[in-house]
Amino acid sequence: MKIEFVAHDVEAGQSCAVAVGVIEGAPLGGAAAGLDEVSGGVLTRAIAGGRFTGATGQTLNVVAPHGLTAARIVLVGLGKPEAFDDQTAEFSGAHAYNAIKTTGVDTLVFRTPGIPAARAAQVAFGVRLAAYRFDKYRTTEKSDKKPSVAKVKIAVDDPKAAAKAFKHESSLADAILFARDLVSEPANILYPEEFARRVKALGKHGLDVEILGEKEMKKLGMGALLGVGQGSVRETQLAVIQWNGAKNASAQPIAFVGKGVCFDTGGISLKSPDGMEEMITDMGGAAAVAGAMYALAARKAKVNAVGILGLVENMPDGNAQRPGDVVTTMSGQTVEVINTDAEGRLVLADALWYCAQRFKPRFMIDLATLTGAIVVSLGKDLGGLFSNDETLAENLLKASKASGDTLWRMPLPAQYDRLIDSAVADMKNVGPRPGGSITAALFIQRFVDKTPWAHLDIASTAWKPNSTVATIPSGATGFGVRLLDRLVADSYEG
Ligand code: BES
Ligand code: MN
Ligand code: ZN
Repeated sequence: MKIEFVAHDVEAGQSCAVAVGVIEGAPLGGAAAGLDEVSGGVLTRAIAGGRFTGATGQTLNVVAPHGLTAARIVLVGLGKPEAFDDQTAEFSGAHAYNAIKTTGVDTLVFRTPGIPAARAAQVAFGVRLAAYRFDKYRTTEKSDKKPSVAKVKIAVDDPKAAAKAFKHESSLADAILFARDLVSEPANILYPEEFARRVKALGKHGLDVEILGEKEMKKLGMGALLGVGQGSVRETQLAVIQWNGAKNASAQPIAFVGKGVCFDTGGISLKSPDGMEEMITDMGGAAAVAGAMYALAARKAKVNAVGILGLVENMPDGNAQRPGDVVTTMSGQTVEVINTDAEGRLVLADALWYCAQRFKPRFMIDLATLTGAIVVSLGKDLGGLFSNDETLAENLLKASKASGDTLWRMPLPAQYDRLIDSAVADMKNVGPRPGGSITAALFIQRFVDKTPWAHLDIASTAWKPNSTVATIPSGATGFGVRLLDRLVADSYEG
């Protein structure tokens, strides 16, 4: 998607749609009033004849307006002026794009007189997120089924200033789309080594990336992570990504840790076939961490940050780990593997312990598509937040509100911790069915070694098969990238 900022006198020809904002419950103003006048009142009549009020999320498509060369005008509801903010601006771009993306026009001209450059950048950001498509494997799709819009021009007071403001949003969009691509890729293409290669390529943005293979992990004693990958012909990988942007080069880093199960069959505790294909998304936590590190590097965030990804495939095999196996984690604690499908926590156990020991971070946040139980608890729009640290939890909730990647705090009740005690090892990897996302978090907590920590269970939010959010086309959401970028910008930079 090509996006440019242009001056108000830009022409909109026959292959263009013109978008203009409309404030709810007010007479047409700004660019809309101008278009209404040149078209002999066609917009006023279109509004009078329908239900469009200018509320957010509404659009009204007017075809071949009299007196204009443009093929269409699309009115975009902006809501009440007092509620207008960055998110409204972002969604207005997305709604305008979605309203005309398959109409046949090749260019969208969004006229936004009088709005500040930063707001115009938000409009463009919304367009970029809405225009995402993962269609690289579709070779026979007819062109009349594909989006027709290839170019978006945002007409603003100061195009230079808007383009400058968009630099930051644009690189954040790149990072979110990078994460969406990783989540969308099938597991025959994106296995641990391929994931590691794509992360390694982020080196060009100034990130330092190390990849550890099975030999190194064995030396480190990562028996839990290696046990998960034991049945796979693909080699397990641990990616360590570093961004050193703090003024004080030796400042204590912050750390993100991602579950990167490139495919989760369940292992010997095999999942049922219904919907198992969705388990290509079981690396959504690792994708979010990689995307967040990309975003930090792209905007040269003034922070030292570490991203650690446990990349592995969970397969049934003659060599796979069995229910009843006991594995020794890097921490020295032993785990009785009751259910090989509860593999994410085994991955995180070693990745978090390694992170805490090697980097002594200010805090660690892990992101993981960890439990079906979180979907039952919170539905598909909210990620679960578990934390042992009030400040970190509050900062995350603030960033969640500001970014739109919504979290809901969940408890870590001490009395449930015994539910994962085992008779043969230090713990078992599953508790009873009730409270499944909580006992999963309590398991992980045993590997954070007193570090301030938060666990984000994003099994609910990494993948939206039927999205109704304008900036998130159905499929991979990129959940977590904006959240972490915002968390750093608002609470941990400088
Ligand atoms: N990857 C799954 C969790 C998941 C479920 C992610 C739905 C995305 C959508 C995880 O590894 C898993 O299998 N969890 C089990 C745990 C159980 C065996 C204790 C689950 O939630 O059923
Ligand atoms: Mn599983
Ligand atoms: Zn899993």
